[in-house]
Amino acid sequence: MAQPLVAQLESLQKEALAALAAVADEGALEEWRVNYLGRRGPLNTALRSIGDLPVEERPAVGARGNEVRRLLEERFDERAQKVREDAMQRALVEGAIDVTLPGRTPPVGRLHPTTRMLREICGALVSMGFQVVEGPEVETDYYNFEALNMPPEHPARDMWDTLWLEPEQGVLLRTHTSPVQVRVLERMQPPIRIIAPGRVYRYEATDATHEAIFYQVEGLVVDEGVTFAQLKGTLATLLRRLFGAERRVDFRGSYFPFVEPGIEVAIDCFRCNGAGCRTCGESGWLEVLGAGMVHPKVLANTGHDPKRYTGYAFGLGVERLAMLKYGIEDIRLFYSNDLRFLKQF
Ligand code: DAH
Repeated sequence: MAQPLVAQLESLQKEALAALAAVADEGALEEWRVNYLGRRGPLNTALRSIGDLPVEERPAVGARGNEVRRLLEERFDERAQKVREDAMQRALVEGAIDVTLPGRTPPVGRLHPTTRMLREICGALVSMGFQVVEGPEVETDYYNFEALNMPPEHPARDMWDTLWLEPEQGVLLRTHTSPVQVRVLERMQPPIRIIAPGRVYRYEATDATHEAIFYQVEGLVVDEGVTFAQLKGTLATLLRRLFGAERRVDFRGSYFPFVEPGIEVAIDCFRCNGAGCRTCGESGWLEVLGAGMVHPKVLANTGHDPKRYTGYAFGLGVERLAMLKYGIEDIRLFYSNDLRFLKQF
């Protein structure tokens, strides 16, 4: 009677240990524990049946049974520890940071081409002694037109397609930076030597060369004895700084109501050196800005004696210069936020 039970315990131990060796995760551990050490497991059943043995056989078989139980419990604890250590090791390896990998470069911002051009222009002029001032983008008819020698109904107003905010009150978005001339003349006494960079607005159907919003830089110099020769010298210096020291600069008669005489300034094309190419429309010349001697009416409008003071003014389009300088063929690229374009600068 005792022999079969002892043999059963032996084979149970063998089977349990073999099964334990195959246990590899938490789920299998628990399954094994319930199977072999659980209350309804074969070991418990065998131990309970010891009570059916003859009294004299019980101690020996009972001792053997307890030995088997202790052994299985001990091996289970060892196995459980090993399984948990292995799992932790795997997690460490899987989640590991390879410190030898090269770092990921964070994307770095850069200056917008308009900003670059603006800084280049202003930098050159500031180094020539100009002071930077700013004026409002929401303007009145008076500053944008009237004080600049364009009374109501003046036909020259048609040169600037205007976005009106309050037409009855004469409130508009400035069409150029020239109104800053008037604001400066109103509150400063000569010698005046300022530039006014800023955004301007036009009521435009946009195309490759027209935008509704763009930037200009205005220049104004007023003092006793300011001459056209000084205007030429300043602009030639500026344009050679921007487009190359070898540039030829051409001054051509033109018309703007707030200057007399008014001129348009061109440089020989820096792509073909004046030979004629696509950039300069085969003419060899690039028109880059408008300028002139401040009109006596503008001085008088702002309380300055035109007999005592003279001055010159100029205005240039920042995107237009950037287009020439960087070979950009469509002005709409500036404000369409296409990174393929912006990353080239
Ligand atoms: N304000 C003019 C424009 O937007 C440009 C200009 C021309 C400005 C001649 C000037 C100037 O100061 O003298 O087209």
